[in-house]
Amino acid sequence: MNKQFWQELPRPIIGLAPMDGYSDSAFRRICKEVNPNIVTVTEFTSADGLHFSAEKLKRKLYFDPSEQPVIAQIFGKNVETFVTATKVCEDMGFSGIDLNMGCPSKKVVKSEHGVALRKNPKLACQLVEAVANATDLPVSVKTRLGWSNGDDLVDFGQAVQNAGADMICIHARTYQEPYKVAPQYEQVYALKDALNIPVIGNGGIESLADGERYCSLLDGFYIGQATFGNPWIFTGQKPQRFKDRLPVILNHAKYLIEHKGDRVGTREIRKHLLAYVKGVRGVKPFKKSLSTVESYIEIEQLLQEIAEMEINNVKENRTLQVA
Ligand SMILES: Cc1cc2nc3c(=O)[nH]c(=O)nc-3n(C[C@H](O)[C@H](O)[C@H](O)COP(=O)(O)O)c2cc1C
Repeated sequence: MNKQFWQELPRPIIGLAPMDGYSDSAFRRICKEVNPNIVTVTEFTSADGLHFSAEKLKRKLYFDPSEQPVIAQIFGKNVETFVTATKVCEDMGFSGIDLNMGCPSKKVVKSEHGVALRKNPKLACQLVEAVANATDLPVSVKTRLGWSNGDDLVDFGQAVQNAGADMICIHARTYQEPYKVAPQYEQVYALKDALNIPVIGNGGIESLADGERYCSLLDGFYIGQATFGNPWIFTGQKPQRFKDRLPVILNHAKYLIEHKGDRVGTREIRKHLLAYVKGVRGVKPFKKSLSTVESYIEIEQLLQEIAEMEINNVKENRTLQVA
């Protein structure tokens, strides 16, 4: 991969947003199977962790070759550990390095990582420069509009561009705005006008049409929460019947369990299963079982039962309508 990677991708660039606890290898694979043209980003991973105990964190960063191009996202505030982490990710075969400058979690901000770097643009640029000089991979930055407003966004974008960033992704909310607040894209458009590197928008996108509407002036968009239980969002063609969604859902469970083992894999798939059945009529009695699954076989049986229930409900409804 070369530094021109983001410049050369067809427009609009469409990606799965990095999401801790969600955008792991299994979910990225599923999204790629639904739409092979998307880009995916790993969950954020500690640069310090990769510096001091790489083997442990390499498991978290695992990816399947079918996911490519997949971008590794790292966070922290230490130039030296960012450089080691970059080398580890490069050796693992990632297609790019993304620097997290947007995470608002209390613990992360208290450590002056994530979005806290927006209060320290000098250090943010040192990190970008060190990473850009340490690798031939494209280096990107993901951040928010700003701390309490986006007034410094253009200055910040120009600074990281000058420091060597090859792309910047803006989550169109400030640090102080929770994930449900409506995104504001105007300042992202102003940033695009001021930069030469690609600008990707993110936040509040609930369909490909939304993405194209909000981000037509940008180079593309990442979708986050709207992918939960709906990887089909990347084609806009969610199968109408639950039965027809089963192959994708079962692959998701299979990949997760294969990679993380029965115990962790079945625990982690539970929240996804609940998201997958959202909106399926009559599913309520199954929810408790879905949230306690312990094996792949159990998952398969439960999902089949839900699919059959839905088919029977549809038949019953038709009979009632005819009668
Ligand atoms: C559960 C969760 C975990 C997240 N983890 C990360 C992360 O690891 N790295 C990151 O840059 N952003 C992370 N984000 C932010 C998302 O990438 C995205 O910017 C945000 O959800 C807004 O997009 P959306 O409105 O489409 O969800 C996370 C968001 C959520 C909801």
